[in-house]
Amino acid sequence: MDKKNKTILITGASSGIGKETALLLAKSGFKVFAGIRRKTDKQNLESLNKNITGVYIDITSSSSIDKAFWFVYKNTEKIDVLINNAGIAVAGPVECLSIDKIKEQFNVNTFGAISVVHKFMPLLNNAKIINISSMAASGLFPYVSPYCASKRALDILFNSFFIENKSNIKVISVKPACIKTPIWDKSVQKARLAFEEYNCSSKDKYLTELLYMEKHALENNQKGIDVKKVSELILKIINSDNPKPSYNVGFQAHLADFVSKLPQSCINNIIKFFLNKNK
Ligand SMILES: NC(=O)c1ccc[n+]([C@@H]2O[C@H](COP(=O)([O-])OP(=O)(O)OC[C@H]3O[C@@H](n4cnc5c(N)ncnc54)[C@H](OP(=O)(O)O)[C@@H]3O)[C@@H](O)[C@H]2O)c1
Repeated sequence: MDKKNKTILITGASSGIGKETALLLAKSGFKVFAGIRRKTDKQNLESLNKNITGVYIDITSSSSIDKAFWFVYKNTEKIDVLINNAGIAVAGPVECLSIDKIKEQFNVNTFGAISVVHKFMPLLNNAKIINISSMAASGLFPYVSPYCASKRALDILFNSFFIENKSNIKVISVKPACIKTPIWDKSVQKARLAFEEYNCSSKDKYLTELLYMEKHALENNQKGIDVKKVSELILKIINSDNPKPSYNVGFQAHLADFVSKLPQSCINNIIKFFLNKNK
C-alpha cells in the first residue's frame, strides 16, 4: 500500500496493542486517527508522532461515535484501514455474573465495533477492516466466557459483513494469544469488583477457580508475548494486497484453533483435565 495520504482509524489507542500499533503505523508514514477517551492520552500520543491525531471516541456511546465521525470526516476524504481494537475483558463464572456485566462485555467488544462501522461506512469504500479478536474466540476458556463469546460473535458478524458488503471492504480477524498489555490487570480489578457484587448462592464455591484465574491473568501480564508481534503483523496485513481472513498470533493461538475443531465432548474433557490439574 502506498503510504502517502493513506489513512488509518484505530480505536482504543491509549495503551497496549492500540498504542503500539498507532505508533508503528505513524512511524511507517500512515496518517493515523487514534481513538482515545482522555485529554492526556490525546496529548501524549500526538506528542510522540506528528502523523497521529487523537480522536475522542467511546465506542459504546452513539453520540461519541457521531462526534468522532464528523471530526474525521472534516479531516480526510476516506479511511483506508479501520482497526477495531478497543476492548475489555469480563471474567467470572456464568452462574454468578449479572446480565449487566455480560452486556457490558458485548457492548464494547462486539456492538461497539459494529456501531463504529455503521457510522463510518461513508468513508470505508474499498477499505480493510482489521478486527482485534482473540484466541478466546475459539470458546475454550471457562471463567472468561463472556469475553470468548463477545469475540466469537464479533468474528461471525464481521465474516457475514465481509461476504455481504457492497463497498468492496475486506475484513481480517487477528487472534492473539496472551499479549503483555494492561488488559490483564484491568480484568483482574474488574473481576474482583464483580465478585463482591455477585448475588448467587454458589459464590464461595468458585473461590479456588477464581483465585487460579486471577493468578494466571497476572502472570500473563508479565510473561505474555511482546505487543510488537501484533503491531508488526497488523502492518504486514495493511501492506498485503491479498490478506487472509484470519491470523493467529502465538503458539497458544494456533493450538486453541486446532483444539476448537475437535468434538465438543473431547474439548470439554481436555479443559476439565487441565482445570483439575491446576487446582
Ligand atoms: N492483551 C492480550 O492478551 C489480548 C489477547 C487477544 C486479544 N486482545 C484484544 O486486543 C485489544 C486491545 O487490548 P489490549 O490488550 O491492548 O488492552 P488495553 O491496553 O487495556 O487496551 C484496551 C483499549 O481499549 C480502550 N477501550 C476500552 N473500552 C472502550 C470504549 N468503551 N470505547 C473506546 N475505547 C475503549 C481502552 O481505552 P481507555 O484507556 O480509555 O480505557 C484502551 O485504549 C482488545 O480488543 C483485546 O480484547 C488482547
